[in-house]
Amino acid sequence: MSHIIVVIGAQWGDEGKGKIVDLLAERFDIVARYQGGHNAGHSVYVGDQSYVLHLIPSGITHRGKTCVLGNGMVIDPKAFFQEADRLIEQGLEVTPERVMVSSRAHLILPYHRALDHTSEERLGNERVGTTLRGIGPAYEDKAGRRGIRVADALVSDVLRSRIERNVEDANRIILAYGGQTLDVEQVFEETSSLVERLAPFIADTTHFLNRAAREGRSILIEGAQATLLDVDHGTYPFVTSSNTTAGGASIGTGLAPHRINGVLGIVRTYTTRVGEGPFPTEMIAGEAELGQLIRERGREYGASTGRPRRCGWFDAFATRYAAEINGFTSVALTKLDVLDALDEIKVCIGYNLDGRSLEYFPAVAQDLRRVEPVYETLSGWKTLTEGITQMDALPAAARRYIDFLSAQIGVGIGLVSTGPERAQTILVHDSPLGAWLKG
Ligand code: IMP
Repeated sequence: MSHIIVVIGAQWGDEGKGKIVDLLAERFDIVARYQGGHNAGHSVYVGDQSYVLHLIPSGITHRGKTCVLGNGMVIDPKAFFQEADRLIEQGLEVTPERVMVSSRAHLILPYHRALDHTSEERLGNERVGTTLRGIGPAYEDKAGRRGIRVADALVSDVLRSRIERNVEDANRIILAYGGQTLDVEQVFEETSSLVERLAPFIADTTHFLNRAAREGRSILIEGAQATLLDVDHGTYPFVTSSNTTAGGASIGTGLAPHRINGVLGIVRTYTTRVGEGPFPTEMIAGEAELGQLIRERGREYGASTGRPRRCGWFDAFATRYAAEINGFTSVALTKLDVLDALDEIKVCIGYNLDGRSLEYFPAVAQDLRRVEPVYETLSGWKTLTEGITQMDALPAAARRYIDFLSAQIGVGIGLVSTGPERAQTILVHDSPLGAWLKG
């Protein structure tokens, strides 16, 4: 049986997926992405090298692995080559033999970036706080059936006529909001030369992945952003514009749902969020200093935009919701060592709204802003855990914290990360994740 596993962040992103995907990638033949674009940012540390990946799957740091940018993605060709060129400079092989771009993926072009700015301006106080990379407008075009897919762009006449129409439409909106309009010819020329360079990387990745699955090759499907940013299941409208959850993996790769045999949730020992939107366990008011401590210890600044991330306590209620939607079969718990400095650690085990305890995660952002988290306080361990590789070498309070989170989420822990490097990892051998890591 082929081995096909999806890896998904359980919270609002930046859970430390990069390191886990990188660890797993060694054991898989193919690493594929299924949604999003260069709004993502993974940092992968290998020895004294660090690689920042936005579009290209984390498998790129391993020799001989094939990386697939799936049909569900939105790809800015300029960003693709900026990233590829940087990785090549760092000694990685970013070649058409190793990196395949789906012919069905949609392109992000300069007018999408311009419209992302305009859209945020128009929203004013209700702005989403997007990465301004053009992600939302590109998905709008896809759903509106005016998008330009990678394969369409290879046909010069089609590319020109779609750019003419789309730039004209975009300019009307941009003008209305006092922005800088775009020149059709310039957009066409720039896109044409980028697409020409992209051509050798373009493939029918749906066919490639299905054939690989039939032949029993293993595939690691790598999520970007995270569960609570899913356009359907997340904290709408403060979400990204794609399906980040496990179901999206099937849509965004063309692999049927029954082919997927495991879903790994990446869960961080605390919570962060970038951009706007409700965040019930955020450390604000009396806890702002604590939030800053976590931000510094956890290096919680965006890999894509450099923005400081908002920090908060672990939200077991939200993570339980994530476990349900994605069907997590195992959990990797990340950044345990960041909490080493705390005397006490709070965990949100439920939400109250208008004096009533909620049974399920609220659909409406306004409700989520008003909920009162119900906390359980656990004692901290005040001991260095950085680099520990055995569960029984952890302080008892840290083990209690891990067990408590696992019981709250309802999923067994397969791995605990105690630092950014590959070796700084505790592996639970007797777990689905332990088995996947054995290959
Ligand atoms: P967009 O994906 O740029 O449209 O942004 C929509 C929302 O998703 C914003 O709140 C972003 O901050 C958030 N977001 C997008 N990509 C990431 C990510 O990789 N990590 C965390 N948040 C993200």
